[in-house]
Amino acid sequence: MSLADRVLYPDFLSRIVTADEAAAMIPAGAHVGMSGFTGAGYPKAVPQALARLIQQQNTQGKPFKIGLWTGASTAPELDGALAQVDGIDMRLPYQSDPTCRKQINAGQMQYVDIHLSHVAQFVWFGFLGKLDVAVVEVAGVLPDGRLIPSSSVGNNKTWLDQADKIILEVNTWHNPGLEGMHDIYYGTDVPPNRRPIQMTEPHQRIGEPYLRCDPSRVIAVVKTHQPDRNSVYAAPDDTSNRIAGHIITFLQQEVKLGRLPADLLPLQSGVGNIANAVLAGLNAGPFENLTAYTEVLQDGMLDMLRSGKLASASATALSLSPAAMQDFNDRIDFYKERIVLRPQEISNHPELIRRMGLIAMNGMIEADIYGNVNSTHIMGSAIMNGIGGSGDFARNAYLSIFMTPSLAKDGAISCIVPMASHVDHTEHDVQILVTEQGLADLRGHSPTQRAEIIIEKCAHPDFRPALRDYLARARKSALGQHTPHLLGEALSWHQKYVETGSMR
Ligand code: COA
Repeated sequence: MSLADRVLYPDFLSRIVTADEAAAMIPAGAHVGMSGFTGAGYPKAVPQALARLIQQQNTQGKPFKIGLWTGASTAPELDGALAQVDGIDMRLPYQSDPTCRKQINAGQMQYVDIHLSHVAQFVWFGFLGKLDVAVVEVAGVLPDGRLIPSSSVGNNKTWLDQADKIILEVNTWHNPGLEGMHDIYYGTDVPPNRRPIQMTEPHQRIGEPYLRCDPSRVIAVVKTHQPDRNSVYAAPDDTSNRIAGHIITFLQQEVKLGRLPADLLPLQSGVGNIANAVLAGLNAGPFENLTAYTEVLQDGMLDMLRSGKLASASATALSLSPAAMQDFNDRIDFYKERIVLRPQEISNHPELIRRMGLIAMNGMIEADIYGNVNSTHIMGSAIMNGIGGSGDFARNAYLSIFMTPSLAKDGAISCIVPMASHVDHTEHDVQILVTEQGLADLRGHSPTQRAEIIIEKCAHPDFRPALRDYLARARKSALGQHTPHLLGEALSWHQKYVETGSMR
């Protein structure tokens, strides 16, 4: 399909330029809002052209950096390309790129890790300064200038609303059948003018299928024909199958106890292989007619839609393997009836998450014996990815579940520690912890009761004696007995790992 078939707004045809010409319109020091969420719907040609330009400028001794704002993580063509030429001064809100991670951890790139539901409103509030340029991938342009979003929505509505100048990347690789899958809500406002968001069901449509765009601010239109990142998920292994098994047993018990309906409540499933494995477990499990109100749609969600276990799914982005993407394209009409893609301020909205009563299931790096969860940092100081939407969901869900294998790095690290080396989700927002060892239901328990449950149910047997010993000694000599800690020792497991490469 040619660009003329996709760009139906006549005035834009005269603004079609090469990616290099478009990149040259982005000034050094600009705040640039780019589309993209978990490797879907990010611009592909302009960021790479910008990276070439930055490298040229750098070799001429003219430093050139931008502030890069996105929906969430992108891909090597965006985060990777710009980081490799040292072109990002400040990055927000979520990244998972190895070069960005290295630069952030070397102190060479500033990184503002904020809740994904906060990003759009922070821009509206003016908290982040002016957005200079938006670079947004779309699947097409309507005759009246409105835009057909591609495989993610993320913050695109806000970037298009707020940026002084707009560059559109029209990606002809995307299936034209995407048209109609999106639901863009234009009813948000800033306090004190906010009104309730009238959504009570995950699949409900409350907006319009297109992004509005002021054509006078569109300075360039660029053609691309490139696939999304589309990474392969690891096949579920024994550990992830056991984690999935514990969660399914727990949910069955909750149904029996009358605390969940037979078709559960809308599911939210986080990023990563374990989250995907839990979906595979649910697909083989006893529950029917499920729904999802989540952030990203992984392979596991498509499998559940096809099997009929999942009736519908709402998200802000696809995050599919190449095989799942092929299937998505082959059956787009089937999926379009069942999938809604929304702005991330709506997919992650606390009001909606609380109202619909979600079952939130997210990965974590470590938890401490009292139930504080670290989702982002290695040994207290190095960023892994970011908090993403985990806080949006955990804080407001009906059930907030965090999961991890009990060990990391070939058994050198215990993921259950005396004190978390960084806290993203406090004990107040964490109800259920799960490892392959078991499931700790922390609801209604005091800190010391929680510690006993977490050690016995979730910690690896190799580390249980040392955790029991820590708790016992803390119960004898801590200043307070509500959350007993030995302050001089609480982070010693991490210190030992930093010094020796093992917590053992
Ligand atoms: N200490 C040190 N490193 C640890 C660790 C620990 N306690 N636990 C895990 N790791 C390392 C792993 O070894 C792995 O390292 P590698 O990339 O060098 O191999 C890495 O962290 C990722 O762990 P993995 O077991 O592959 O987990 P995952 O893919 O399920 O990801 C998170 C887990 C926590 C990193 C991921 O879920 C995340 O980024 N979460 C935050 C955002 C979020 O929850 N988003 C969803 C909201 S919708």
